[in-house]
Amino acid sequence: MSDSVVRVALLGGGTVGSQVARLLTDSAEDLQARVGAPLELVAVAVRDVNKPRPGIPSELLTDDPFAVVKREDVDIVVEVMGGIEPTKELLEVALRNGASVITANKALLSEHGAGLHEIAFQNGVDLFYEAAVAGAIPLLRPLRESLAGDRVQRVLGIVNGTTNYILTKMDEEGADYDEVLAEAQRLGYAEADPTADVEGHDAAAKAAILATLAFHSSVTLSDVHCEGISSVTLRDVEAARDLGFVIKLLAVAERTSDSGIVTRVHPAMVPRSHPLASVRDAFNAVFVEAESAGPMMFYGRGAGGEPTASAVLGDLVSAARNRRAGASGQAQSIYAGLTPRPVGQATTRYTVNLDVVDRPGVLAQVATCFGDHDVSIQTVRQDTDEQSGRAALLIRTHAASEADLAATVDALRDLDIVNEVAAVMRVEGEE
Ligand code: NAP
Ligand code: HSE
Repeated sequence: MSDSVVRVALLGGGTVGSQVARLLTDSAEDLQARVGAPLELVAVAVRDVNKPRPGIPSELLTDDPFAVVKREDVDIVVEVMGGIEPTKELLEVALRNGASVITANKALLSEHGAGLHEIAFQNGVDLFYEAAVAGAIPLLRPLRESLAGDRVQRVLGIVNGTTNYILTKMDEEGADYDEVLAEAQRLGYAEADPTADVEGHDAAAKAAILATLAFHSSVTLSDVHCEGISSVTLRDVEAARDLGFVIKLLAVAERTSDSGIVTRVHPAMVPRSHPLASVRDAFNAVFVEAESAGPMMFYGRGAGGEPTASAVLGDLVSAARNRRAGASGQAQSIYAGLTPRPVGQATTRYTVNLDVVDRPGVLAQVATCFGDHDVSIQTVRQDTDEQSGRAALLIRTHAASEADLAATVDALRDLDIVNEVAAVMRVEGEE
């Protein structure tokens, strides 16, 4: 085993990268003791070398990331700059050049993870990405290693800190959506383009990574059904509260009965009594249900520079130990080959809000419409407005497939007695 220095290069010195650089200095002695050799930061690639970056020696800065990944003396490249290009090419060059790679880049992994894994395997180096999903929470390693002997059935959770922060502030303070989003950006939770957060793309990328690991099958971003929170209004949040629910952006990946996987991201109502309801601010929580282990919950800080840097450092220590031991990278485990299925095959419960004409026989027509499409009604609440002659119906269903529910909603829209299908919301979690 070599006792020489392990040389580390950083691609990116922003929210996460600056904290990785700081921890490499502040925790140098502990890291050395844990790895068995010192970790030396030898380069930091950024866009603007003239920006003040306290704690990063200016002689390490460069605006040429390709020169960094081509260096022969770099053992581990830490990628925290984000984006697909040129990042993908940079990491391919680094891996082919014999460096192990640590990345927090879920967008890249969810589209090009398989190709990067293949290059890492061919070159006998590690590709680790604990920070890419749920920030500081140790989740990917437990899925890949601790649960390697079990059979995961379902993964469900809150994996985007920005949207959870926004929904929490809307629920608890009636806060304005745009103001809270700006606050989440200031706090370093949001992506460079926060559309990725609010439209659910960031959570969908994480869901694809989780599904791939949980089910030993290839799941990419395009396999994930994705709806964000931009259409969730304060009225929706308040209506959910009146019913004893809170709205959360959930990521769900589950096996289907026909050897498939459905992976979806969307807002859903969660009962206040459910543990996910109390996951506030930028915290994340993920439930994993495995055949032998049963249900498990992983909870912690899901975003922010320092928490994310913690996960990066954990990977860094593992990769550095492997290099010292001469251990080679593992192939990606996608042997099971479960097929991604359309969201129509997913099954969950729903609330449907209807604005209907208030006259005899309306409830019967509505109920028939649900029954005709195999969707069973659990409860109905009617609020009548005598003056307008209209009624608001709140219908809660038992579990039904997304396809059947969608067909029901289409048929409801065609009924003369339905003025409007005002809202449809999924319900997850036992009450
Ligand atoms: P950030 O604050 O925007 O930092 C990006 C860094 O990369 C900056 O230092 C930037 O340089 C540099 N950079 C960008 N493009 C570059 C290029 N073409 N060449 C050289 N340098 C370049 O982003 P961040 O929040 O740290 O996130 C970085 C990555 O971590 C992303 O993949 C993100 O999804 C992931 N992540 C973030 C969090 C979080 O909470 N923030 C959590 C988990 C994962 P300048 O400083 O000169 O602009
Ligand atoms: N923008 C991401 C979030 C960062 O808000 O969760 C953590 O991956």
